[in-house]
Amino acid sequence: MVTDQNSQAIVTFEDVHLTYDGVREVLRGTDFTLRPGDFRFLTGPSGAGKTSLLKLIYAAHRPTTGRVEVFGNDLLDMPSEEMPKLRRRIGVVFQEFRLLDHLTAFENVALPMRVLGVNPNSYRDDVIELLSWVGLAHRIDAPPTVLSGGEKQRVALARALVSKPDLILADEPTGNVDPVMGEKIMRLLLELNRLGTAIIVATHDLGLVRGLKQNILRLKDGKVTLHGPIPDETPAREPEGAQ
Ligand SMILES: Nc1ncnc2c1ncn2[C@@H]1O[C@H](COP(=O)(O)OP(=O)(O)O)[C@@H](O)[C@H]1O
Ligand SMILES: [Mg+2]
Repeated sequence: MVTDQNSQAIVTFEDVHLTYDGVREVLRGTDFTLRPGDFRFLTGPSGAGKTSLLKLIYAAHRPTTGRVEVFGNDLLDMPSEEMPKLRRRIGVVFQEFRLLDHLTAFENVALPMRVLGVNPNSYRDDVIELLSWVGLAHRIDAPPTVLSGGEKQRVALARALVSKPDLILADEPTGNVDPVMGEKIMRLLLELNRLGTAIIVATHDLGLVRGLKQNILRLKDGKVTLHGPIPDETPAREPEGAQ
């Protein structure tokens, strides 16, 4: 149950530990709170555990110990059969797009609704509107195989939005696109946030983060070491492969 103190929170981490294979401790006492409408860049060097932290939020993993609360549900004692309902409120954008090549852009975006068994008449207009919003009205019938990296990422973004999620998790969404397209994708995410959706964007590109002046959650040595505005002295790029 949600306590009064954090009833406003949509994500709460309290002393969260995550260990892979019983030996690899990736999170070692992570604490933070995310409230409706928040935008956060999740930063930290490659291997710091950014993707792992996002996976905890959308319940792809459970914490080893500690409390992860998402929309008021404690993941440690949440029955597995209730997890799909929780995941429906979260839109995920992966670095590597994860689109299906045998489907058109329209069908890829519509897929989450099709899987839920929703009547196509109720979401057709939404799918077209979303593809127009990301600038792909002219690519509706194109399969991913003929789309550029930036176009694919925008299809993936539209797909993440089709179920009208309360929270968007984007994992290095600009990692596989050129800088101009990366900026465009970030502008779309910021616009979405202005419309009220809470967003976490994992990235190790501090140049991008600094330019956009949003609050950061910095992950280091398995803990959140900073939660707030980015300090001026931070280097432009996190060291690659550092732990
Ligand atoms: N499923 C897994 N099983 C075992 N180790 C993993 C798994 N996923 C990630 N790791 C390890 O956990 C650490 C953190 O990974 P990750 O969360 O992907 O970091 P980041 O996204 O910040 O680069 C890395 O050392 C990685 O090799
Ligand atoms: Mg990652």
